Amino acid sequence: MELTGIIGYGEMGSMLVRGFLSTGVLRVDEVVVSSRSKKSLDACAAAWPGIGIAPANTDLARRCRTIIIAVRPGDVLGVLHEIAPVVEGDEHIISLAAGVSLADLEAVFMGPVTRVIPTITSSIGQGTTLICHGRGVGAGDARRAERLFSPIGDLMLVEEGELPVATFLSSCGPGLLAAIIEELAGAAIRAGGLSPDRALSLATGMVTATAAYIRETGETPPDLIRHVATGGGITGVGVRRLRERLPGVLDETFAAMLQRHDALGERS
Ligand SMILES: NC(=O)c1ccc[n+]([C@@H]2O[C@H](COP(=O)([O-])OP(=O)(O)OC[C@H]3O[C@@H](n4cnc5c(N)ncnc54)[C@H](OP(=O)(O)O)[C@@H]3O)[C@@H](O)[C@H]2O)c1
Repeated sequence: MELTGIIGYGEMGSMLVRGFLSTGVLRVDEVVVSSRSKKSLDACAAAWPGIGIAPANTDLARRCRTIIIAVRPGDVLGVLHEIAPVVEGDEHIISLAAGVSLADLEAVFMGPVTRVIPTITSSIGQGTTLICHGRGVGAGDARRAERLFSPIGDLMLVEEGELPVATFLSSCGPGLLAAIIEELAGAAIRAGGLSPDRALSLATGMVTATAAYIRETGETPPDLIRHVATGGGITGVGVRRLRERLPGVLDETFAAMLQRHDALGERS
């Protein structure tokens, strides 16, 4: 039986264990977890009776064919250096870390390496998980990794050069959109007449429904705008005002994020 190991039982590690086990993509006896603290391992063992608990990362690495590294970016290469001496070389290493490149990973581990970027919304099976396979990943390993991550949302295969900006949309995006929802509700409150709770509820419901509508109908955003912004109406005035300012604001937002990404460099 091929085992899947997850190193790091934090936000992402625990979300993946839940995603893999609750959807049945893996059985509890097919998963092994290691983490830095006993507290995290005890929490994992209590949540998932029968799951494999490894006392050390090297122990996990000896037992598992697929090894998911779910530690903070600054800890990834240290973990990889730690397990490299005990692996065979044909294991499939999967790193979740933003900013740790395939070249960095492949410099320590010569076998197949994939980068996967989930998002906070993966915890409810929504959003898009980005997958970027290294050159050493064969078709079988690629298929298995994609099947593994399919229950936690949609998958998009990307080239490594696309990863920073794709990550801004898929993984930073929920943070950006949450800020926009907050501002929409805030503008409604300032304009008068709505309580903060009701404004937030309306803004959140509208954003969810609009995204679902665009997905389900296949209409583009301009199609939808044509339906709701009839000539001379209220929506048209609002959309025109947003279109004057929003591209500039969002270009500045992405430029700032790219600048931060480049400043942090590899292992951000
Ligand atoms: N959070 C997100 O939305 C998100 C989205 C996409 C990608 N990612 C990536 O996912 C990775 C994990 O992020 P996270 O949010 O899950 O971080 P986190 O909650 O801080 O979890 C990191 C875990 O790593 C464990 N750890 C640290 N050093 C270790 C070591 N040497 N050996 C074994 N375990 C070790 C810690 O263990 P203990 O708890 O036992 O101390 C902790 O539970 C990061 O690389 C991040 O870039 C995160």
